[in-house]
Amino acid sequence: MKKNKISKNWINKQRRDIFVRRSKVEGYRSRAVYKLQEIDQKFKIFKNGMSVIDLGAAPGSWSQYTSKNIKSGKIASIDLLDFEKIENIHQIKGDFTNDIYKNKIIDYFGAKVDVVLSDMAVNTTGNKNLDSIYTGELCMEAMNFSKETLKNDGKFISKIFMGSTFNEIISEAKKIFKENKVFKPLASKKGSKESFIICKFLR
Ligand SMILES: C[S@@+](CC[C@H](N)C(=O)[O-])C[C@H]1O[C@@H](n2cnc3c(N)ncnc32)[C@H](O)[C@@H]1O
Repeated sequence: MKKNKISKNWINKQRRDIFVRRSKVEGYRSRAVYKLQEIDQKFKIFKNGMSVIDLGAAPGSWSQYTSKNIKSGKIASIDLLDFEKIENIHQIKGDFTNDIYKNKIIDYFGAKVDVVLSDMAVNTTGNKNLDSIYTGELCMEAMNFSKETLKNDGKFISKIFMGSTFNEIISEAKKIFKENKVFKPLASKKGSKESFIICKFLR
């Protein structure tokens, strides 16, 4: 299929997508917000006053949602990309996998945090197996970071792709956390391998 035909199909799909339309009406920067909202409603993630790290935050809908739901809390968000300023959020541009940036996040809080979110994903290569491996590596790195930065009763929520890295991620999560659930929200497209892992309470 020609490139302009692919992008026309993409635009048409976006127009029909109920979550895209809702995000525009409700002032969110991405339809991804409804994945986090459903996770929050089902697993009771956020409370006022919490401290939250948002990894892979651009364009910012998860940070927008978090900010609304923790009121007087503290949020640090990082992405490789620049993203428009969100009030009351400490935004960092950089590669989370680089220790310099991990330390910047840790220094910002100066204490353990309540929640680590990761919606990080690499740019898709077109090869679903490779995409799932690369995104799985980001999830593992985020999980190890959460082990260092979370309070004992903290929560870790991360995007995962069903694929060759799935079992390894689940078995690592079981070593680190007491409670682990895998959940695919309605806003996560049916045909995609995307799902989310929700982990609570450090061992
Ligand atoms: C699906 S988007 C996140 C959407 C976001 N949760 C929202 O609600 O707007 C995935 C993001 O992960 C970021 N990302 C991928 N690898 C990263 C890394 N090593 N460090 C920081 N961000 C990364 C990408 O730049 C991309 O913006």
